[in-house]
Amino acid sequence: MATKTKALPIFLSLLVVLALVEVSHGKLVIYWGQDSSETSLNATCNSGLYDLVNIAFLNKFGSGRTPQLNLAGHCNPANGGCKSLSSEIINCQKKKIKVLLSIGGGIGQYSLASTADAKKFADYLYNNFLGGKSTSRPFGTAVLDGIDFKVELGSAQHWDDLVRFLAAYSKPGRRIFLSAAPKCSIPDKFLGAALRTGLLGHLWVQFYNNPQCQYRPGDTSKIIATWKQWASMKWTTKLLLGMPASKAAGSGFIPAGVLINQIMPEIKKTPKFGGVMLWNRFYDRASNYTAVIRSSV
Ligand SMILES: *[C@@H]1O[C@H](CO)[C@@H](O)[C@H](O)[C@H]1NC(C)=O
Ligand SMILES: *[C@@H]1O[C@H](CO)[C@@H](O)[C@H](O)[C@H]1NC(C)=O
Repeated sequence: MATKTKALPIFLSLLVVLALVEVSHGKLVIYWGQDSSETSLNATCNSGLYDLVNIAFLNKFGSGRTPQLNLAGHCNPANGGCKSLSSEIINCQKKKIKVLLSIGGGIGQYSLASTADAKKFADYLYNNFLGGKSTSRPFGTAVLDGIDFKVELGSAQHWDDLVRFLAAYSKPGRRIFLSAAPKCSIPDKFLGAALRTGLLGHLWVQFYNNPQCQYRPGDTSKIIATWKQWASMKWTTKLLLGMPASKAAGSGFIPAGVLINQIMPEIKKTPKFGGVMLWNRFYDRASNYTAVIRSSV
């Protein structure tokens, strides 16, 4: 009798642990905004495939430039055309999908000239896209969940300042979600100091267009070793695997079977594992990649 009454609670707590392991899935992150035929933001969120959408990009800012969005053919920010995204952002958020603004990108003009310039730009982001107020809000009244750093051009200066100023706007109950998409080679050429602040909570590392650390057909050793290096950094909180959504999206494409059977089981051992990021919605829609891998992430 005595052993039975002891065994039952142990058995039940074991079940709870198993259930928790079962539901601890990683997040699916997608970049949206660089091709008008990728479907609307509403349709992207309504697809049920993603947990977080990065709107890409604000690609002109800093050093005296007037900040400017580039969302391909989706809308024209110059005539207020992107305000129509407001209802779509709210629709996504109602579905518990976070929506961030990604700053930077591979094409554009951006840099921060000084700490004061970083402060000015942080204020601009807060007032125009986050919880602040401005008459010029490009996405209207919708309040984005945060800012993503995809800095790939210009200089390495003052990104750490910008991260600190943005983080200082976080309030209890309205935390500003800060993330970055560094390239997989360590240290990142532009974001090194910003990463070391420890304030960029989620890192979706670009394991693509970086031959020195990305997947090579038949060889998962480099990508797994580099993943472990990123995971070992004390300032990494959550780590996500950034990949091209198809062969056309960039070099380093990982066939779904290789990802599911060889890479996922390895990287999911990392307690900091947070999911995967895909570049981008246009390619993902054509390849159906997320739909195929989603249950394994
Ligand atoms: C996006 O979807 C929401 C919810 O269905 C809807 O209210 C809103 O009008 C849509 N926005 C656009 C621009 O279609
Ligand atoms: C996409 O993949 C899912 C999951 O494997 C599948 O159910 C669906 O039919 C696929 N869609 C297309 C268009 O291939």
